[in-house]
Amino acid sequence: MTADIDQSIEHAVSKLKAGLLVAFPTETVYGLGADASSAAALERLYAVKGRPTSHPVIVHIASVEQLTDWAKDIPAQAYQLAERFWPGPMTLILPKADHVLSQVTGGQDSVGIRIPSHPLALKLLEAFSGGLAAPSANRFGRLSPTSAQAVEAEFSDSPDQVAMVLDGGPCDVGIESTIISLLSSQAKILRPGMIDADSVAEVLGAEAFSFGSSASAGETRVPGALPSHYAPQTKLTVASSEQLIELVLELNAMERSAAVFAFDSTVAKLRSNLSGLVFDSLVVAPEQVDQYARALYEQLRRFDKLKLDRIFVEAVPYGSAWDGVRDRLERASAEVSA
Ligand code: TXA
Ligand code: MG
Repeated sequence: MTADIDQSIEHAVSKLKAGLLVAFPTETVYGLGADASSAAALERLYAVKGRPTSHPVIVHIASVEQLTDWAKDIPAQAYQLAERFWPGPMTLILPKADHVLSQVTGGQDSVGIRIPSHPLALKLLEAFSGGLAAPSANRFGRLSPTSAQAVEAEFSDSPDQVAMVLDGGPCDVGIESTIISLLSSQAKILRPGMIDADSVAEVLGAEAFSFGSSASAGETRVPGALPSHYAPQTKLTVASSEQLIELVLELNAMERSAAVFAFDSTVAKLRSNLSGLVFDSLVVAPEQVDQYARALYEQLRRFDKLKLDRIFVEAVPYGSAWDGVRDRLERASAEVSA
């Protein structure tokens, strides 16, 4: 078994060294990996993803010692956060080391760096020994894949573009890493995730951390901040329990189909009200945020495949623990008006 894994890792490393792309599991979502020090590999990466070249990618490394290979003028805060959260679902934005290619940074002076905790990702990074640029393994603007099967499906129309997909099972975290900028003395969350603002403030001290709304729509340097990001193809609406029940009943009266992801009590109310709804599309959402995040993208993907008219998701609780999930739902439901 381990021999098999070692062999796949070896195979993956040789593909990466040859400038090809290898999809690999991380604890957040699957990444599409490319040698971060090869301009040709990075160009291939952008082409396959269909991503504008002005959008920076995260460099994945195996150990804190490698930080100085990619970043310079590293503040003490970086090491404090690394100590607490790496390996794990956190990306730090730091001043880039001089040699870092503009294809990595989108032409900026900063670089995003992460040490993932998935054992297969760490094994791959250790064997590769350099940095791997790895955006989520989806085409630009689509939902991030949280299983090897979802990666295969994403690139099924051009399978030869991705040299290999390492299968590490379903992702444990389920949404993308928390991105923290350390470019000024006040750390700032650019993309919320499962490491929440309170946990970051706990490490840095509240005065060294700027709370408040993170990635504003104007900051297009984080493409996740574009409103239509992370979107399924079916129109998705987030609504409170009462609104959601009303909307589903309305749609049902028009004999249109809907998928619903809602908390237990809302689903119970719907069940007692509805006869015509496709049973399979009425799903109870986990009350625990970790379980919710783990299930979210897989669930939206499954809904999308059913080709129903609408997807309804019950609004999630307030509080910083849910910021990452709430952010992804907002983006997935971005509508042109209202
Ligand atoms: O969990 C994750 O972060 C996953 C896994 C594979 O590690 N990766 C991921 O990559 O979500 P991607 O490329 O889909 O999203 C990375 C985000 C982008 O929004 C990008 O703009 C931002 O990180 N980013 C990267 N470098 C940056 C920089 N120097 N300044 C600001 N934002 C940066
Ligand atoms: Mg992405």
